[in-house]
Amino acid sequence: MQRPSNRSYSLRGDRMTRAQALAMEQYWGNYSIQVESPIDFNQILPGKEKVIVEIGSGMGEATAQIAQSTAQVGYLAVEMHKPGLAALLLLIIEKQLSNIKLIREDAIYLFENYILDNSLDGIHLLFPDPWPKNRQHKRRIVQGDFVEMVAKKLKPGGFIHIATDWQPYAGWINNHFAASSAFSGGVVPRPDWRVLSKFEGQGLKKGHVVTDFRYVKR
Ligand SMILES: C[S@@+](CC[C@H](N)C(=O)[O-])C[C@H]1O[C@@H](n2cnc3c(N)ncnc32)[C@H](O)[C@@H]1O
Repeated sequence: MQRPSNRSYSLRGDRMTRAQALAMEQYWGNYSIQVESPIDFNQILPGKEKVIVEIGSGMGEATAQIAQSTAQVGYLAVEMHKPGLAALLLLIIEKQLSNIKLIREDAIYLFENYILDNSLDGIHLLFPDPWPKNRQHKRRIVQGDFVEMVAKKLKPGGFIHIATDWQPYAGWINNHFAASSAFSGGVVPRPDWRVLSKFEGQGLKKGHVVTDFRYVKR
């Protein structure tokens, strides 16, 4: 299978703390999955009522907290940033969570090649990189193609929840989803389950306003 030449993420430093490096060494094999064929969620997260994929789990604070409070739901965290995945691994061990699997991959590549159509109950996209400059807008993960792809991968009635602290990106997200006949929904109040991540905390300190969106596939 051809890998895309234009990967959609930006790589950051991979430097890890000692604890993170140890966690990767000892536990990565137990909690991560290597994809070679379309993902069978019954196999990787057996017995779960629902499966939610998180795109860009960052340092995993929200992921671990959400997974802890809803043990009947399976979570697949997709992230490229190794120290972030290692931090989530440490939280999984500390909280003894058995309902999260991790994949180190570009989410767009993963969705296009390894997530079956109509297979997901939900998607979390929390604080995607805002790419604020005009010339960077093409790097934003939310694009027309992304909306179409998400519509294909969700089950009917499945949802995508998006949060952003960048108001121009909120307008952009709203416009892209409003242009799709596949979804209903829009701005929603901040849900209880969405705990404060470090990234969100930094935005709030700068006075940013956070917008939550929930779109449901018709
Ligand atoms: C601004 S951070 C937010 C992290 C986290 N969701 C939070 O709320 O703190 C965005 C994250 O998305 C990840 N990311 C961006 N594009 C991605 C992609 N195509 N596939 C997987 N992860 C991606 C980045 O590595 C980064 O960790």
